[in-house]
Amino acid sequence: MNIAELFAQRERERYALNSRFLNDQMVRVLQAIGFDIGFCRGEGQYLYTRDGNRYLDLLSGYGVFAIGRNHPKLREALKSVLDTDLPNLIQMDVSTLAGILAERLLTRVPYLDKALFVNSGSETVEAAIKLARAATGRTGIVYCDHAFHGLSYGALSLNGDEIFRNGFEPLLPDCVRIPFNDLLALEKALRARTIAAFIVEPIQGKGVNMPANDYLREAAAICHRYGSLFVADEVQTGMGRTGRFLAVEHWNVEPDMVLLAKTLSGGHVPVGAVLTRRKIFHKIFDRMDRAVAHGSTFGTNDLAMAAGIATLDVLESERLVEHAARIGEHLTCKLTEMIAHHEFLHDVRGKGLMIGIEFGPPRSLKLKTAWHAIETSRKGLFCQLITIPLFKEHNILSQVASHSSHTIKLLPALVISEADCEWIVNGFASVLAGSERVPGAIWSVGKTLVGHAVRATA
Ligand SMILES: Cc1ncc(COP(=O)(O)O)c(C=O)c1O
Repeated sequence: MNIAELFAQRERERYALNSRFLNDQMVRVLQAIGFDIGFCRGEGQYLYTRDGNRYLDLLSGYGVFAIGRNHPKLREALKSVLDTDLPNLIQMDVSTLAGILAERLLTRVPYLDKALFVNSGSETVEAAIKLARAATGRTGIVYCDHAFHGLSYGALSLNGDEIFRNGFEPLLPDCVRIPFNDLLALEKALRARTIAAFIVEPIQGKGVNMPANDYLREAAAICHRYGSLFVADEVQTGMGRTGRFLAVEHWNVEPDMVLLAKTLSGGHVPVGAVLTRRKIFHKIFDRMDRAVAHGSTFGTNDLAMAAGIATLDVLESERLVEHAARIGEHLTCKLTEMIAHHEFLHDVRGKGLMIGIEFGPPRSLKLKTAWHAIETSRKGLFCQLITIPLFKEHNILSQVASHSSHTIKLLPALVISEADCEWIVNGFASVLAGSERVPGAIWSVGKTLVGHAVRATA
């Protein structure tokens, strides 16, 4: 079985295969915005087409390729697992590699004592809900507006956007939604002492919403005042993304539970980790007959554990956390400087290499009319006028931060260089200059998109 040959033989059929057998709506979206070019290779922060065109990837697979695509050390680690005939998943034994990965993760988060491995970000959230309920004897979970914790039922019950929830309710009972950055609302929700945990992303992925300076520290203190657990969902922000190993380190917070996934996988083998306190862990695993009270068949599989160990090693040996802090700051500064020169550009925010670029209505009348024309057809459509030419003319792959959002999110591999930053800044400058020409090519794309938007909802 030669997968490389199979890929080469069939890769031209990818859209047809996906339309027929998988999510055909996704194929329609890609075709509508012209992203259906079919990448054939990935290396580091770059993607390559069949004819060798290079693209700068600012999505990194929703954050999983933090160490870059197909990193040689990761590849070597995975190959060595396959070549060693390891016993893997004996189940009536424990895993050596899981022990090593847990030891290395907990060294980075020394105030926590125990790790639990699962297969995805959503599964870390499911585990956190169960651990919190078991540890406190309470049922309630508090979460935030615009939160995203995954799409399985428990995690979806903590989702702060109707677009994901609609059609799937009823969800888990006793979940209470509060505004992000609102400590009074948190205290009000916790006061009755029925809440097991407050689960929060230190920086919200949907929108790159930043916490106020004292928010996370105060939120943890309020949780502890009322006997609730403070859980940091660092699935997206964790492991160097924001320029610290954990994002909560920016605000000196020590959560009762930390959830990791994405980066931990090296992008290749799905994995998630829940790190928590011994006291909490032992509330679930409290007797021998409860040794299997929570877990998953593939949780500690050797390939996933090896991917985690290799990823930590690359983060350390290439000093990628420090690099993300430095290069992220550089890129954020360069993009912020552009605000003064571009009417549609309103805000640049983030930490490390999790950056939100927010657009909004311009000042001048002519541009304002164009903005309203496009935004009336569908809120957030303006961002597509930026991401499409960035992709087509500047070979930059980017995404809108959430549905109906005016923010584009940059989530590149942590290995990006100063030259890549220049590529990004020049790309945005050129596209923004184009957006200020009405009529112009960008607004013609806008008209086509409005047509698609009308048809999509018809
Ligand atoms: C903060 C956060 N939590 C949980 C998840 C869910 O992770 P997964 O898609 O691996 O289930 C995501 C995914 O984007 C996330 O950003």
